[in-house]
Order: sequence, then structure tokens, then C-alpha cells
Amino acid sequence: MKTLAWASTLLGLASAAQLQQVSDFGSNPSNVRMYVYKPDNLPANPPLIVAVHWCSGTAQAYYSGSQYANLADQHGFIVVYPESPYSGGCWDVSSDASLTHEGGGDTQGIASMVKYSISEYGVDASRVFVTGTSSGAMMTNVLAATYPDLFQAGSVYAGVPAGCFYTGTVNGWNSTCSGGNSIATPEQWASIVHDMHPGCHGEYPRMYIYHGSEDAVLYPQNYDETIKQWAGVFGYDPDAPIETSPNDPASPYTKSVYGDKLVGALGAGVSHNLPRFEQEDMEWFGIV
Ligand SMILES: *[C@@H]1O[C@H](CO)[C@@H](O)[C@H](O)[C@H]1NC(C)=O
Repeated sequence: MKTLAWASTLLGLASAAQLQQVSDFGSNPSNVRMYVYKPDNLPANPPLIVAVHWCSGTAQAYYSGSQYANLADQHGFIVVYPESPYSGGCWDVSSDASLTHEGGGDTQGIASMVKYSISEYGVDASRVFVTGTSSGAMMTNVLAATYPDLFQAGSVYAGVPAGCFYTGTVNGWNSTCSGGNSIATPEQWASIVHDMHPGCHGEYPRMYIYHGSEDAVLYPQNYDETIKQWAGVFGYDPDAPIETSPNDPASPYTKSVYGDKLVGALGAGVSHNLPRFEQEDMEWFGIV
């Protein structure tokens, strides 16, 4: 019994950190909410993962429903969970404001969270990563396009290419894109990325794209189009992966490596409700 009491004391101590809301974190024109998970025992200059929720999701739901906070305890990094300001809880990935660097939309607020984490928590600016599911996956692509200077890598769980959801309205729904009918060449998709931050001459984040082949919410064509987009940015051939491996990172996914900066994993028969591969994220982000 003594051992048990000790164990629960230790567990209690280990899990003392909690999800916290931060109210003043810089320029935030669309009133995105910031939540942060900071483990108690952090190394100096820890990495940061920005984890972006799905439609109808919340920061709390992503925090308790994913492994990122546990992995943060284990490996010593910070997790920021932005929260959508709109009823319905989707992200604005459709307006000119959000699709533009410093354009006054959700992307600008999330970028402020990253800058705040660097200045206030001492986050290592060369180890900032972004991941998201569904609407959050769309936002991950859009953040990589609008703020390539802030992120080193991203992982995208069932999203659409950056710019694909354009409607010209805030928090719109583009059914041409969701239905898999927005088709473009790698060059066209890449120029959409470049137009989101025209002054950017630096590197774009390394991207890992996950999708299910039976996704009936964001049709699987969006997987091909997203691969085409980043292949266009990096100068890879989207039709000729240099390596393809079945059952990777797990059955029924097939992983395709297009180059150092672009990997895809398509799950055969998998719906929109696909799992996250948090451990694979740790490796892709270079945290482990
Ligand atoms: C939806 O997005 C596509 C690009 O993906 C664009 O061509 C089309 O005009 C958009 N639809 C609306 C209603 O804005």
C-alpha cells in the first residue's frame, strides 16, 4: 500500500501542470483564443507544437483527446491549443484576411501565439511545429503557407490544400473543394502558397500529409491535391515518390516519401475519422 501511495503522489506531481488560457498574447484581430500546456519540468528553450482542433472541437477536447500533452511531459515541449472564435468551431481558411500573411485573420492570431511563446516561455524558434485534424488540418496547411518563417514542420490529418477552401468570406464552406473538385497543377497550387506571403524567400516547413481513401467529408482527391501543392513548392514529382512502404506507419496506411520535406500516408478504406499518429509526429518533428 505504501508503494501505491508513493506512486499516486508521484503521478500527482507529474501531472500537476494543466491546460491554461492566456488572454494577452499580441495582435489578435479575429479573437482566436489561446490555451497552453506547459509541463512542470521543461528544458531550457523547449520545442513548441501548435495543435489545431477540428470543427466543433475545442482546445480542451484536443488536449484531453490526444497524446500531445502526455508526450510533452515525457519529452519536454510546450503545446499551444488555439481555439476558434466562431460558433460551430471551424477555422477561417476561406477569407482573404486569414489566407494572407499579417492579413488580419485567424492565422495572424495563431502566429502571435507562436511569437508570444518564443518571447515569454523561451521556446526555441527553430523547433516550432504545427499539427491539426480536419478544419485544423486545413489550417495547418494555411499556416505553413502564410507563416513559413515560424514553423519547421507540419502534420496534416485529413485536410485540404492551402487556398482550396477560398470563398472570400470569413469562416466559409467551399463545397467544390470539400467534394474533391478543386483540381490544379502542382505549379498552380504552389503559386497559391507563394501568394499568401509574397515577400517570403525562405524555406517552407516540411509537411506530412495523412488522409483516408474513404473520406466522405473532405474527399480523398484532397490528399492528391495537397501532395501536388507541397510537391510544387519543393520541386518534387507528385507522381513519382522516391519510396513507398505498405503498413506504414501502420496498417492500412501506405507511406509515400517524395523527398526530405514531403511525406504522405493514405489509409485504405479509412474514413474522415482517422486516428492521429502522435509518435510518428514526434519523429517527423525531430523531437525524438
Ligand atoms: C471554392 O474554391 C475553389 C478553389 O479551390 C474556387 O475556384 C471557387 O471559386 C471557390 N468557391 C467559392 C464559392 O468561392
